[in-house]
Amino acid sequence: MSRPPLGGFFDRCAPSWDNGCPAGLTAAISKIFAVARLHPGSRILDVGAGTGILYPFFLKAGAGAYTAVDSSPAMVQRFKAKHPEAAVLEADYEKPIVFPEPFDVIMIFNAFPHFRDEEAVFRRSRSYLSAGGRLFICHSMNREALNAHHRDAGGTVAGDVLISDARMAGLYRKAGFTAVRVENTDHFYSEGTK
Ligand SMILES: C[S@@+](CC[C@H](N)C(=O)[O-])C[C@H]1O[C@@H](n2cnc3c(N)ncnc32)[C@H](O)[C@@H]1O
Repeated sequence: MSRPPLGGFFDRCAPSWDNGCPAGLTAAISKIFAVARLHPGSRILDVGAGTGILYPFFLKAGAGAYTAVDSSPAMVQRFKAKHPEAAVLEADYEKPIVFPEPFDVIMIFNAFPHFRDEEAVFRRSRSYLSAGGRLFICHSMNREALNAHHRDAGGTVAGDVLISDARMAGLYRKAGFTAVRVENTDHFYSEGTK
């Protein structure tokens, strides 16, 4: 069954987004970055970046270049107000985007279940990566907590569930990614290499 469009859901969330960070967010991000071991100098694309929660972590990891994409005008506005120097694009990642150069890392953090066409997201991400580039789809919560969180939020995100480990791994492989790793522990971590 097709899911309803997100509408302005995240625009309405934007004003209070940074005040409502779930407990354990920073710890989960630190664990994800520790496992991901990003190479200093990597060109980063942060998809569904919201207000830029990951931006300082990428800077600390030595990002060579950083671009953020988010479809919510209000989220983008807040991100830009906090970090005017960052390249933040208001765009729907489910539609083609022309980037001037490839990325070494694409991170979709706390955003994947909100996409409607999952296969297209994988295909498109692969096309935006350099050879050997890596796609990460990660969450600060594990699948069970995240799905309950969306159910409780209700409205247009109530049905935005995180797919199974097997389906996630299958989507990476179908799109041509190798070295696929999918782990649902106290948070959710997945990656694949182009
Ligand atoms: C749960 S928020 C997470 C924001 C940020 N990554 C964080 O952890 O704070 C999901 C974000 O994905 C964005 N988003 C949803 N669908 C999108 C799409 N098709 N293209 C780009 N961004 C999208 C929303 O606007 C929202 O800012």
